[in-house]
Amino acid sequence: IKVAVLMGGSSAERDVSLSTGKQILNALDPNQYIVSAIDTATGNRLLPAAPAAEGRTLPIVSLTADVHALTPVGGGAAIEALPELSRVRAEDKPDVVFIALHGPGGEDGTVQGMLEVLGIPYTGSGVLASALAMDKAMSKRVLTGAGVLMPAGETVRRGRPIDWDTLRAMPLPVIVKPSAQGSTFGVTRVTEADQLEGAIKTAFEYDDAALIEQFVTGTEITVPVIGNRDLEILPIVEIVPASGFYDFAAKYTPGATDEIVPARVSDSIAAEARRIAALCHETLGCRGMSRTDMIVTSDGAIYTLETNTIPGMTTTSLLPRSAQAAGIAFPKLLDRLIELALE
Ligand code: DAL
Ligand code: MG
Repeated sequence: IKVAVLMGGSSAERDVSLSTGKQILNALDPNQYIVSAIDTATGNRLLPAAPAAEGRTLPIVSLTADVHALTPVGGGAAIEALPELSRVRAEDKPDVVFIALHGPGGEDGTVQGMLEVLGIPYTGSGVLASALAMDKAMSKRVLTGAGVLMPAGETVRRGRPIDWDTLRAMPLPVIVKPSAQGSTFGVTRVTEADQLEGAIKTAFEYDDAALIEQFVTGTEITVPVIGNRDLEILPIVEIVPASGFYDFAAKYTPGATDEIVPARVSDSIAAEARRIAALCHETLGCRGMSRTDMIVTSDGAIYTLETNTIPGMTTTSLLPRSAQAAGIAFPKLLDRLIELALE
């Protein structure tokens, strides 16, 4: 099977995507796959369409060195990848594209649409589910409409009047976050009313819409789902950040967060969390995989925060850990996702 991996991209999660991509490149079985890789921000081919010559460690490690220098805002520049992708399509004829991109310009339906037009099957969700899930304001409407409990809150949009009275009346703390963003970029926990304006400004650096939501305290869990129609709910992961807040550092610094699999929740909570994860996957129309993040309060209410259509696959990431606990080693997980893409 010929696989083209798309990675990098120009969203704020570029660094995470490069990590995800590297993990994937190193784990794809060279006896099974002929692999190529493209950075969608630059259009650069990271890997020729040939199995790695010396084992599985591929020489792209230095790529992460300058990624922090990037100042990504809003959508991605996947267009840079189009000529190279067209070349890959014409010359290498990939059977499938593995999308190892996170955030706008990769996880949001745009690259998916490009691949639809090119007629190449790809891993994960299609255009609509990707776009919906990436936009927290829109997915919240759709999911709450399906009966999913989510934190109370308001959406504000750049250039539109902001109803400060309503926002200031919300009980603190609140979480302010950009609507379309991942990995906690642009997210602020607001504990004093006079921080609100600055927090909204910060969120607007990443997107034109921001959510101001009630901060729900409790046990943070995440529920990975794999499948297209027949869904497999993977073990629930409990997230215990040492700092108390699961922000970027807690997510990606090895050791900064304890991930406990399976989560220490009652059987009834676990069953309900699995039901919600499947409901979110189906309601948004996800394919291949999803990972829904939730908070369980001390009185047993489950608040859903969001569904991720391309969950991280870095060394500290949650979905691969959960799969591992279910006896699905990382290379096998990739096999499954590729099978599901070709189904
Ligand atoms: N947005 C990151 C990659 C995640 O959900 O894992
Ligand atoms: Mg996310």
